[in-house]
Amino acid sequence: MKLLAIESTCDETAAAVVEDGRRVLSSVINSQVQEHQVYGGVVPEIASRRHTEHITEVVRLALEEAGLSLAEADGIAVTAAPGLIGAVLVGVNFAKGLALGAGKPLVPVHHIRGHVAANYLTHPRLEPPFLCLIVSGGHSHIARVEDYTTYRILGRTQDDAAGEAFDKAARSVGLPYPGGVALDRISRQGDPERYPLPTPHTAGKYDFSFSGLKTAVINLAHNASQKGEALSPEDLAASFCRKVSDILWDKLEAAARDTGAQRIALAGGVSANSWLRARAERGCRENGWELFLPELSLCGDNAAMIGSQGYYEYLAGHTAGMDLNGRPYMELGDEF
Ligand code: KG4
Ligand code: ZN
Repeated sequence: MKLLAIESTCDETAAAVVEDGRRVLSSVINSQVQEHQVYGGVVPEIASRRHTEHITEVVRLALEEAGLSLAEADGIAVTAAPGLIGAVLVGVNFAKGLALGAGKPLVPVHHIRGHVAANYLTHPRLEPPFLCLIVSGGHSHIARVEDYTTYRILGRTQDDAAGEAFDKAARSVGLPYPGGVALDRISRQGDPERYPLPTPHTAGKYDFSFSGLKTAVINLAHNASQKGEALSPEDLAASFCRKVSDILWDKLEAAARDTGAQRIALAGGVSANSWLRARAERGCRENGWELFLPELSLCGDNAAMIGSQGYYEYLAGHTAGMDLNGRPYMELGDEF
């Protein structure tokens, strides 16, 4: 089954063709990141307008690269939640038009389920159940993936998402959006022991909290400037990356031990972080667990992951009619 997939929930307009949930026949991404950088973050209004301008060409290219005509596609998968609502609606309406015009099934996909599915594209033999740490710009979850469309959330952030913490910490030391990428890059020359950062306390055993960490970084920057001292961005980046990785790993390890998980996956934009990947690799090796990491090109937003998850949603009978709407918020376990 060949699905044409569309993703437009944030600042990437993306389309892909994916076969049977596992094989990427094409994947096209038009990123707006440079335009939003000037503002230090994504401006929703601009994002929606750019999606509207680019979506036709991005979809055309995805079909062309896959050597597929619209008539040959077996269905249209589209991210319908969660995300910036004006941006989501561009993809949803475009997909509805294609599905209606070409007479194809319409498959709505939860964005975060798509991030999890990036692992199915990277690891052909990975099948649920497994434990997954999902860390993106808007979400931080520890979830047990029971089957392809059933999730049990064990832990979540109480305040900022992990990616949001990276972006805010980066901004406080003058690094460009998206800060996680910039922090990771410069951290490689840094000393992770230089700036001690606090370990946040959470009520839930597998829950996260990142707002205190963000405040600690802002305070460090503020105190240094008041004393007329220069903060080392490289050392701060290394200290921050290591701290966040340790926090994420400690919670994930506890959840894995308590649930007897043998297979662990990471997902979402922050799963590209080199410290987190290394920490998870070491931790899984020590515990004898199998680790699944999405390949770097599939960690951030893309439509291939939506095409993968869309296949499993279709098999589960999760299609939508022409009354499909986009949603800004939606729990991972809910259905459209
Ligand atoms: O999953 P994603 O592309 O979009 C959302 O669904 O939110 O995640 C974007 C987030 C941003 O906060 C970005 O700073 C972070 O992922 N990110 C990273 C890295 N690459 C992207 N954070 C830490 N290290 C990275 N290498
Ligand atoms: Zn995402």
